[in-house]
Amino acid sequence: MKKTILTGLRPTGNLHLGHLFGAGQNYIKLQDDYDFYLEIADVQALTDNFNNPEKVRKNVTEITIDLLSIGLDPNKVNFFIQSKIPEIAELTVFYSNLVTVARLERNPTVKTEIAQKKELFGNNGESITYGFLGYPVSQAADITTFDGEVVPVGEDQLPLLEQCREIVRKFNSIYGETLKEPNAILSDAKRVKGLDGNDKMGKSLGNAIFLNDTEETIKKKIMAAVTDPEKIKKDDPANPEVCMVYYYHNLVNTKENKEKVCSECKKGSRGCVQCKKELIEAMNDFLKPIKEKRSYYENHPEEVKEILDNGTKKAQEKAKEQMKKVKKAMMIDY
Ligand code: TRP
Repeated sequence: MKKTILTGLRPTGNLHLGHLFGAGQNYIKLQDDYDFYLEIADVQALTDNFNNPEKVRKNVTEITIDLLSIGLDPNKVNFFIQSKIPEIAELTVFYSNLVTVARLERNPTVKTEIAQKKELFGNNGESITYGFLGYPVSQAADITTFDGEVVPVGEDQLPLLEQCREIVRKFNSIYGETLKEPNAILSDAKRVKGLDGNDKMGKSLGNAIFLNDTEETIKKKIMAAVTDPEKIKKDDPANPEVCMVYYYHNLVNTKENKEKVCSECKKGSRGCVQCKKELIEAMNDFLKPIKEKRSYYENHPEEVKEILDNGTKKAQEKAKEQMKKVKKAMMIDY
């Protein structure tokens, strides 16, 4: 029997290189060996986008297409939409008795996010909604609805996993051994830096190259990328280690070209403009197969819908079984 993987993504925007080299490539490796459930977490996305339903709706399809384009195989991965699994919402209500408000307020991930969302939740989080504060409970329901044993997540999500494990233990201690305690595996062991040199590429940081960026956009972004500030003239020798252009050459270019870029940069026999032009070309070549797949799915929306429908159907079956067990344990199986 294969172990079950459950992970989720908030449909709030397209995927970028950070997602690809972090989570995406890891998912591709895992899809062969696990029973893989991939949740498009529209309900969770609404917790901080409740005033922007169009954005969430549009990105359910967009993010599914992104994931298919990078090589996730719909025959191996069950893509499903969170809101189509009402058991998750039901479980969230049951679990909410097992978590204190103080514990949620202490959750480091939630704290960071509240601080980032001043417009929505106030300068000191005084306008925090019940729904947002409680989304870790709903995420625990996401995971346990599917008996997720392995949960690939980024480092920032570890406190949510810990919170889920606590809920599971509390549930089992009160209602009897029913739920499995999930284990996190880090899916972003490889963190990708931003065009601005920031340690993390992020949608909200404005320093990302998206998988569906046009050639024109990629050109503009790369021409503006941060290089060694000590290099003033074209033939100054420079340090590739502090240059984002070299950093991306390293990610997407061939071994031979990477070495050439590195040694010429150190010698001062390569100007930054030339180097950026070569990177633009390498980046376009690298993204080409992904974009080709994307364009296939964009032209076959019925296929995308079918993939989501099939995955969601499987998820619904699994959720129904799990709900029976939970209700029995809680003595609400009338
Ligand atoms: N909170 C995750 C994020 O922001 C998305 C998510 C939703 C998730 N449900 C999940 C991750 C279940 C792991 C397991 O990226």
